[in-house]
Amino acid sequence: MKKIIVAIDGFSSCGKSTMAKELARETGYIYVDTGAMYRAVSLFCIRHGWIKDDFIDTDKIEQHLSEMHLEFKTNTEGKAEIYLNGENVEQDIRTLEVANGASKVSTIRTVRKELVRQQQLMGQSKGIVMDGRDIGTVVFPNAELKIFLTASPEIRAQRRMEEMKNKGQEVDYEDVLANVLERDERDQNRKESPLKQAEDAILIDNSEMALTEQQELLRNLFREKTAF
Ligand code: DC
Repeated sequence: MKKIIVAIDGFSSCGKSTMAKELARETGYIYVDTGAMYRAVSLFCIRHGWIKDDFIDTDKIEQHLSEMHLEFKTNTEGKAEIYLNGENVEQDIRTLEVANGASKVSTIRTVRKELVRQQQLMGQSKGIVMDGRDIGTVVFPNAELKIFLTASPEIRAQRRMEEMKNKGQEVDYEDVLANVLERDERDQNRKESPLKQAEDAILIDNSEMALTEQQELLRNLFREKTAF
């Protein structure tokens, strides 16, 4: 069967990674969570004090970008986890603070350029499912299958809150909703590669969709694109 690139873009917390991971598992494709890469850069910057509350030291981040070595390794359960300079940071990057920082570092042109370069290398041999914000527009404009996933902010906040609670993090719904809205605003209005639907992307709103229904839809689209 012909190998393709699947690009899944969309708003934060609308289930892109769940969708992408499941498709990768079913097809034996590589899964890449590009948000994890921006989050790992954010974590590095927070640890160094280059991001704190509303402050961001762009010069320092640009100067030290080459010191942030990112890689994905598969754990014993077959799940890809992100490593920052050899340290597994998969858990550490899943906090609101890191998410907020990621949304800020992702506005820096030099950071985007470097991460996009790394992402393009990962997709050289195709057979990859990548999720993010600019995959179908910038990273792989020629991807054979492009999905733009969305859901209402309230539903996304609810889902994110449950996910965090399951991981033992106590969070308030209003805080999570505010965070979702703030990130939407920043993702859509930043100068560098703002979040937008590629012209040839298929729009899926999963606000009212069951997971099985969503996966069935994706599976069918994948089959259409890979059949020849
Ligand atoms: O998908 P996520 O919530 O893990 O992404 C974290 C942040 O990184 C989010 O605010 C947007 C940014 N991001 C981006 O700008 N481009 C990508 N390809 C992936 C994520």
